[in-house]
Amino acid sequence: MAFEIHEATSCDAKDLAEVFFSAFSDPFCRAILPPTPEVRDWVAVHLANGNNKASEHEVFLKLSDESGAVVAFAKWVRPYHAVADRDRRNEEVHAWPVGGDKALCERFFGSMAEQHRRIMGEKPHYFLDLLCVHSSFQGRGLGSKLLKWGLARADEESVEVYLCSSPDGKPLYLKNGFQSLDIPSPLPEYEQTHMIRPAVH
Ligand SMILES: CC(C)(COP(=O)(O)OP(=O)(O)OC[C@H]1O[C@@H](n2cnc3c(N)ncnc32)[C@H](O)[C@@H]1OP(=O)(O)O)[C@@H](O)C(=O)NCCC(=O)NCCS
Repeated sequence: MAFEIHEATSCDAKDLAEVFFSAFSDPFCRAILPPTPEVRDWVAVHLANGNNKASEHEVFLKLSDESGAVVAFAKWVRPYHAVADRDRRNEEVHAWPVGGDKALCERFFGSMAEQHRRIMGEKPHYFLDLLCVHSSFQGRGLGSKLLKWGLARADEESVEVYLCSSPDGKPLYLKNGFQSLDIPSPLPEYEQTHMIRPAVH
């Protein structure tokens, strides 16, 4: 079937959270954000585009199956210069959920935000903040489709694309022109790779 990209809204938040927990289901992800009702609600609130003070630069995209169920989504952040705004939003996210591993969340997400700030600074760039495909729908090109949405825009605007990859995502990003930066992962048990795709001029 042909999957078409649509923008997700706050009404989709719970569905996006389901996809999130299906996609990020390895032992490390289960430890950092276990799928308890409280943590599920917390993730849904943070995915609720539009009603959690989402920035105008953020775009949530979804792909649904023929029944209308969301099976994949991405969160892209368009280029902008306001590092202070990004920092403010990172601060807001630091109220970690009851039931999650707060210390691990702090180290994991805190280090990602810090490296993003250090690596990209004020440079305008597209940022792929999240890419999740439901486990039953992986390997069918859906992740590539949501990735290419941002890559095409970045190329039109001649800007770089930045992301911090999970172990699962890395082959897809390497295949699509990203280069890995040589930055050690803060958590040896879960390899994160900071990646940049150069601008096309
Ligand atoms: C990583 C992830 C987003 C990739 O999404 P995906 O939809 O499975 O990826 P795609 O199907 O687009 O591409 C993956 C592979 O399927 C292949 N593929 C692409 N189109 C295909 C199609 N129509 N049919 C079959 N295979 C296809 C791709 O060539 C690729 O092959 P490769 O193994 O040679 O690289 C997904 O696996 C996922 O959600 N993982 C868990 C969460 C995660 O780690 N997210 C990334 C965070 S940075």
